[in-house]
Amino acid sequence: MDMGKKAKIIGTGSYLPENVMTNSDLEKLVDTSNEWIVSRTGIEERRIAKEGEYTSTMGVFASQAALADAGVLPSQIDFILVATLTPDYNFPSTACLIQHAIGAKQAAAVDIQAACTGYLYALSIAKAWVESGMYKNILVVAPDKLSSITNYKDRSTCVLFGDGASACIVSLEGKGLVIETVTLGADGEQALLLMMPGGGCRHPASAESVAMSQHTIHMAGNEVFKHAVRRMESASKECLASAGVDEKEIAWVVPHQANIRIIEAIAKRFEHLSPERVFKTVHKYGNTSASSVGIALDELLKTQKIHSNDKILLMAFGAGLTWGAAVLRYE
Ligand code: UT7
Repeated sequence: MDMGKKAKIIGTGSYLPENVMTNSDLEKLVDTSNEWIVSRTGIEERRIAKEGEYTSTMGVFASQAALADAGVLPSQIDFILVATLTPDYNFPSTACLIQHAIGAKQAAAVDIQAACTGYLYALSIAKAWVESGMYKNILVVAPDKLSSITNYKDRSTCVLFGDGASACIVSLEGKGLVIETVTLGADGEQALLLMMPGGGCRHPASAESVAMSQHTIHMAGNEVFKHAVRRMESASKECLASAGVDEKEIAWVVPHQANIRIIEAIAKRFEHLSPERVFKTVHKYGNTSASSVGIALDELLKTQKIHSNDKILLMAFGAGLTWGAAVLRYE
């Protein structure tokens, strides 16, 4: 093993369900308006998985796209790391379902849970494992079917979320995006600000838990908003510093897509970041949790001209609370 080599993302993929839910569709479900949703969040529409389309199903499509992009066969994958907060089942893991569906028979497989920061947590683990020589080709998958845990009677949350999946292949060999540095953090003291109260061992499913809507997302939106801005800013600056990259050198920023106002507030906290360098998908997909950074990264790579040595800054924030940032460099 070459001790000096850094792990790279050698292929990316994403998947969005076909079915579009617009703001006017939501106007028919709850007391809201297109004007409120667009001005408070920037979201115009989101994708909703169809009947029979699950987190694993979406994850499989994103994985197959990433494998094709990297030119790697399922048989060459030795680990599958799935970041999701909407697994098909509590157990077995969604990673095992995806392992079987793509035919990666010799891969070990596990789920991790870091909510909307899951893609970055998974990237960090994959980077360490690949650089240590423990695994060669890791498939990172971030699929989420938030529509399955959204309360479509709660206007303060239901307008925000959508379904989608992203994936990437992390390896030492091949060309792609060098993962220079990943910075992660968490604050469990704020755990209850954004959560699903039911379904775990504290409040197992019961007639009462269903009646109390405990199996859906509960969020203190205002509080979460403030933490999101602060934590993504500080994680990003810390990550840039440890990568030795000046903010002037950033070609693209790919932030978690939760709310356009969060993205704009963070962009303003950088002195040299022009708004058109901040890549956005929130208007068309809403917040797709763990998958969101990966979907945006995949779209960026497939729609924009990326130059050799371009630096890309990823940042994310979510329940836990958890947050993270990563500096990537295009080879
Ligand atoms: O992915 C990880 C993390 N998630 C986030 O980062 C989300 C963070 N939070 C947010 O994006 C924002 O806090 C929200 C979009 C959730 C809410 O925006 P806000 O500007 O913080 O609004 P608010 O909660 O302060 O509510 C303002 C008003 C309230 O009415 P009153 O009390 O002023 O009369 C709400 O009842 O807007 C009302 N409201 C709505 N009105 C129409 C809340 N939701 C809606 C709605 N349509 N969908």
